[in-house]
Amino acid sequence: MSYISENVEEYLSRLMPIEDELLAKLQQEGIENEVPIIQVPSIRLIQTMIKLVNPSVIIEVGTAIGFSAIWLAKTTNAVIHTIERDPLMIEKAKENIKRAGLEKQIILHEGDAREIIPTLPKAELIFIDAAKGKYKTFLELAFPLLKVGGIFIFDNVLFRGFVADENILATKPMLRKLNRFNHFLAAHPKLETSFISIGDGLAISYKLEE
Ligand SMILES: C[S@@+](CC[C@H](N)C(=O)[O-])C[C@H]1O[C@@H](n2cnc3c(N)ncnc32)[C@H](O)[C@@H]1O
Repeated sequence: MSYISENVEEYLSRLMPIEDELLAKLQQEGIENEVPIIQVPSIRLIQTMIKLVNPSVIIEVGTAIGFSAIWLAKTTNAVIHTIERDPLMIEKAKENIKRAGLEKQIILHEGDAREIIPTLPKAELIFIDAAKGKYKTFLELAFPLLKVGGIFIFDNVLFRGFVADENILATKPMLRKLNRFNHFLAAHPKLETSFISIGDGLAISYKLEE
Protein backbone atom coordinates (compact mmCIF):
# COMPACT_ATOMS: atom_id res chain seq x y z
CA MET A 1 0.00 0.00 0.00
CA SER A 2 1.25 3.45 -0.82
CA TYR A 3 1.26 6.71 1.13
CA ILE A 4 -0.03 8.63 -1.86
CA SER A 5 -3.45 7.79 -3.28
CA GLU A 6 -3.75 4.57 -5.23
CA ASN A 7 -4.86 6.20 -8.48
CA VAL A 8 -1.81 8.50 -8.47
CA GLU A 9 0.41 5.47 -7.81
CA GLU A 10 -1.20 3.60 -10.72
CA TYR A 11 -0.89 6.69 -12.93
CA LEU A 12 2.86 6.89 -12.20
CA SER A 13 3.35 3.17 -12.86
CA ARG A 14 1.60 3.49 -16.22
CA LEU A 15 3.53 6.67 -17.01
CA MET A 16 6.90 4.99 -16.45
CA PRO A 17 6.67 1.20 -16.56
CA ILE A 18 9.83 -0.79 -15.77
CA GLU A 19 11.66 -1.32 -19.08
CA ASP A 20 14.20 -3.82 -17.73
CA GLU A 21 12.90 -7.39 -18.09
CA LEU A 22 14.62 -8.85 -15.03
CA LEU A 23 13.63 -5.93 -12.76
CA ALA A 24 10.02 -6.22 -13.96
CA LYS A 25 10.08 -9.96 -13.13
CA LEU A 26 11.63 -9.31 -9.70
CA GLN A 27 9.00 -6.69 -8.94
CA GLN A 28 6.30 -9.22 -9.84
CA GLU A 29 7.95 -11.91 -7.69
CA GLY A 30 8.25 -9.46 -4.81
CA ILE A 31 4.56 -8.58 -5.01
CA GLU A 32 3.46 -12.23 -5.34
CA ASN A 33 5.58 -13.35 -2.36
CA GLU A 34 4.72 -10.28 -0.28
CA VAL A 35 8.34 -9.14 0.00
CA PRO A 36 8.36 -5.42 0.87
CA ILE A 37 10.47 -4.10 -2.01
CA ILE A 38 10.85 -0.39 -2.76
CA GLN A 39 8.21 1.33 -4.87
CA VAL A 40 9.20 2.26 -8.38
CA PRO A 41 8.75 6.07 -8.17
CA SER A 42 11.07 6.01 -5.09
CA ILE A 43 13.82 3.94 -6.73
CA ARG A 44 13.60 6.19 -9.80
CA LEU A 45 14.28 9.20 -7.59
CA ILE A 46 17.22 7.37 -5.99
CA GLN A 47 18.47 6.63 -9.50
CA THR A 48 18.48 10.38 -10.23
CA MET A 49 20.29 11.07 -6.93
CA ILE A 50 22.95 8.51 -7.94
CA LYS A 51 23.50 10.31 -11.24
CA LEU A 52 23.96 13.59 -9.34
CA VAL A 53 26.24 12.24 -6.60
CA ASN A 54 28.24 9.94 -8.93
CA PRO A 55 29.31 7.62 -6.09
CA SER A 56 32.14 5.08 -6.22
CA VAL A 57 30.77 3.13 -3.26
CA ILE A 58 27.12 2.64 -2.21
CA ILE A 59 25.99 0.91 0.99
CA GLU A 60 22.51 -0.58 1.20
CA VAL A 61 21.06 -1.81 4.50
CA GLY A 62 18.28 -4.34 3.73
CA THR A 63 18.72 -6.38 0.53
CA ALA A 64 15.60 -8.62 0.62
CA ILE A 65 15.51 -10.34 -2.82
CA GLY A 66 18.02 -7.90 -4.33
CA PHE A 67 15.50 -5.84 -6.32
CA SER A 68 16.80 -2.40 -5.28
CA ALA A 69 20.48 -3.51 -5.23
CA ILE A 70 20.17 -4.73 -8.83
CA TRP A 71 18.38 -1.52 -9.84
CA LEU A 72 21.16 0.55 -8.22
CA ALA A 73 23.88 -1.51 -9.89
CA LYS A 74 22.25 -1.04 -13.30
CA THR A 75 22.35 2.74 -12.71
CA THR A 76 26.03 3.16 -11.86
CA ASN A 77 29.46 1.52 -11.90
CA ALA A 78 29.76 2.03 -8.12
CA VAL A 79 30.44 -1.00 -5.94
CA ILE A 80 27.30 -1.85 -3.98
CA HIS A 81 27.74 -3.28 -0.46
CA THR A 82 24.35 -4.64 0.57
CA ILE A 83 23.45 -6.26 3.89
CA GLU A 84 20.79 -8.90 4.65
CA ARG A 85 20.27 -11.14 7.68
CA ASP A 86 17.32 -13.35 6.66
CA PRO A 87 18.65 -16.67 5.26
CA LEU A 88 15.72 -17.10 2.83
CA MET A 89 16.18 -13.58 1.48
CA ILE A 90 19.95 -14.13 1.21
CA GLU A 91 19.38 -17.24 -0.88
CA LYS A 92 16.93 -15.40 -3.20
CA ALA A 93 19.17 -12.32 -3.45
CA LYS A 94 22.20 -14.44 -4.41
CA GLU A 95 20.15 -16.20 -7.08
CA ASN A 96 18.84 -12.90 -8.49
CA ILE A 97 22.22 -11.13 -8.43
CA LYS A 98 23.58 -14.11 -10.41
CA ARG A 99 20.62 -13.92 -12.83
CA ALA A 100 21.52 -10.27 -13.38
CA GLY A 101 25.21 -11.14 -13.89
CA LEU A 102 26.15 -8.58 -11.24
CA GLU A 103 28.10 -10.78 -8.78
CA LYS A 104 31.26 -8.67 -9.26
CA GLN A 105 29.54 -5.32 -8.59
CA ILE A 106 27.15 -6.26 -5.77
CA ILE A 107 28.79 -7.54 -2.58
CA LEU A 108 26.20 -9.23 -0.39
CA HIS A 109 27.08 -9.21 3.33
CA GLU A 110 25.24 -11.85 5.32
CA GLY A 111 24.30 -11.02 8.91
CA ASP A 112 23.02 -8.30 11.19
CA ALA A 113 23.64 -4.82 9.81
CA ARG A 114 24.50 -3.59 13.30
CA GLU A 115 27.61 -5.82 13.23
CA ILE A 116 28.42 -5.46 9.53
CA ILE A 117 28.09 -1.67 8.99
CA PRO A 118 31.24 -0.81 11.03
CA THR A 119 33.31 -3.18 8.84
CA LEU A 120 32.39 -1.49 5.53
CA PRO A 121 34.39 1.09 3.54
CA LYS A 122 33.47 4.77 3.23
CA ALA A 123 30.67 5.56 0.77
CA GLU A 124 29.11 8.54 -0.99
CA LEU A 125 25.56 7.17 -0.81
CA ILE A 126 24.00 5.06 1.94
CA PHE A 127 20.50 3.64 1.46
CA ILE A 128 18.76 2.47 4.63
CA ASP A 129 15.81 0.11 4.08
CA ALA A 130 15.86 -2.47 6.90
CA ALA A 131 14.05 -2.72 10.30
CA LYS A 132 12.18 0.59 10.64
CA GLY A 133 12.49 0.68 14.45
CA LYS A 134 16.32 0.57 14.16
CA TYR A 135 16.83 3.52 11.79
CA LYS A 136 18.51 5.65 14.49
CA THR A 137 20.98 2.86 15.28
CA PHE A 138 21.72 2.32 11.58
CA LEU A 139 22.25 6.06 11.11
CA GLU A 140 24.60 6.33 14.10
CA LEU A 141 26.66 3.35 12.94
CA ALA A 142 26.77 4.46 9.30
CA PHE A 143 27.36 8.20 9.90
CA PRO A 144 31.20 7.90 10.06
CA LEU A 145 31.19 5.94 6.78
CA LEU A 146 29.37 8.60 4.76
CA LYS A 147 31.73 11.10 3.14
CA VAL A 148 30.99 14.81 3.62
CA GLY A 149 28.88 15.86 0.61
CA GLY A 150 27.38 12.37 0.40
CA ILE A 151 23.77 11.45 1.05
CA PHE A 152 21.74 9.10 3.20
CA ILE A 153 18.43 7.89 1.80
CA PHE A 154 15.87 6.31 4.15
CA ASP A 155 12.81 4.49 2.79
CA ASN A 156 9.37 4.12 4.43
CA VAL A 157 9.78 7.15 6.70
CA LEU A 158 6.09 8.06 6.33
CA PHE A 159 4.90 4.45 6.63
CA ARG A 160 1.59 4.69 4.75
CA GLY A 161 1.02 8.05 6.40
CA PHE A 162 0.61 6.35 9.80
CA VAL A 163 3.42 8.40 11.42
CA ALA A 164 1.22 11.47 10.92
CA ASP A 165 -1.78 9.89 12.69
CA GLU A 166 -1.72 10.32 16.52
CA ASN A 167 -4.27 7.54 17.09
CA ILE A 168 -2.31 4.94 15.12
CA LEU A 169 0.99 6.11 16.67
CA ALA A 170 -0.44 5.45 20.13
CA THR A 171 -0.98 1.75 19.28
CA LYS A 172 2.27 0.85 17.48
CA PRO A 173 5.71 1.09 19.19
CA MET A 174 7.54 0.66 15.85
CA LEU A 175 5.71 3.68 14.41
CA ARG A 176 6.49 5.74 17.53
CA LYS A 177 10.18 4.86 17.05
CA LEU A 178 10.00 5.83 13.38
CA ASN A 179 8.29 9.09 14.31
CA ARG A 180 11.01 9.83 16.91
CA PHE A 181 13.62 9.00 14.27
CA ASN A 182 12.05 11.47 11.81
CA HIS A 183 12.24 14.21 14.46
CA PHE A 184 15.85 13.26 15.28
CA LEU A 185 16.78 13.36 11.60
CA ALA A 186 14.97 16.65 10.98
CA ALA A 187 16.94 18.30 13.82
CA HIS A 188 20.33 16.65 13.10
CA PRO A 189 22.89 19.49 13.01
CA LYS A 190 25.23 17.72 10.57
CA LEU A 191 22.60 16.60 8.06
CA GLU A 192 20.35 18.65 5.83
CA THR A 193 17.21 16.59 5.22
CA SER A 194 14.22 16.63 2.89
CA PHE A 195 11.21 14.40 3.56
CA ILE A 196 9.44 13.46 0.36
CA SER A 197 5.97 11.92 0.17
CA ILE A 198 6.76 9.60 -2.71
CA GLY A 199 6.10 5.85 -2.53
CA ASP A 200 6.09 5.06 1.20
CA GLY A 201 8.00 8.24 2.07
CA LEU A 202 11.70 8.91 1.48
CA ALA A 203 14.08 11.03 3.55
CA ILE A 204 17.17 12.34 1.78
CA SER A 205 19.91 13.73 4.04
CA TYR A 206 22.97 15.60 2.79
CA LYS A 207 26.04 15.30 5.05
CA LEU A 208 27.34 18.77 5.89
CA GLU A 209 30.28 17.92 8.15
CA GLU A 210 32.02 15.10 10.10
C1 LIG B 1 12.16 -3.56 3.06
S1 LIG B 1 13.15 -4.96 2.87
C2 LIG B 1 14.41 -4.42 1.76
C3 LIG B 1 13.91 -4.20 0.39
C4 LIG B 1 14.98 -3.90 -0.65
N1 LIG B 1 15.80 -2.78 -0.25
C5 LIG B 1 14.34 -3.60 -1.99
O1 LIG B 1 13.73 -2.50 -2.10
O2 LIG B 1 14.40 -4.42 -2.90
C6 LIG B 1 14.02 -4.98 4.40
C7 LIG B 1 15.01 -6.14 4.56
O3 LIG B 1 15.89 -5.79 5.64
C8 LIG B 1 16.26 -6.97 6.33
N2 LIG B 1 16.70 -6.57 7.67
C9 LIG B 1 15.94 -6.06 8.69
N3 LIG B 1 16.71 -5.77 9.75
C10 LIG B 1 17.99 -6.12 9.41
C11 LIG B 1 19.23 -6.08 10.10
N4 LIG B 1 19.33 -5.62 11.36
N5 LIG B 1 20.34 -6.51 9.45
C12 LIG B 1 20.26 -6.96 8.17
N6 LIG B 1 19.11 -7.04 7.47
C13 LIG B 1 17.98 -6.62 8.08
C14 LIG B 1 14.97 -7.81 6.31
O4 LIG B 1 15.27 -9.17 6.49
C15 LIG B 1 14.36 -7.47 4.95
O5 LIG B 1 14.69 -8.45 3.99
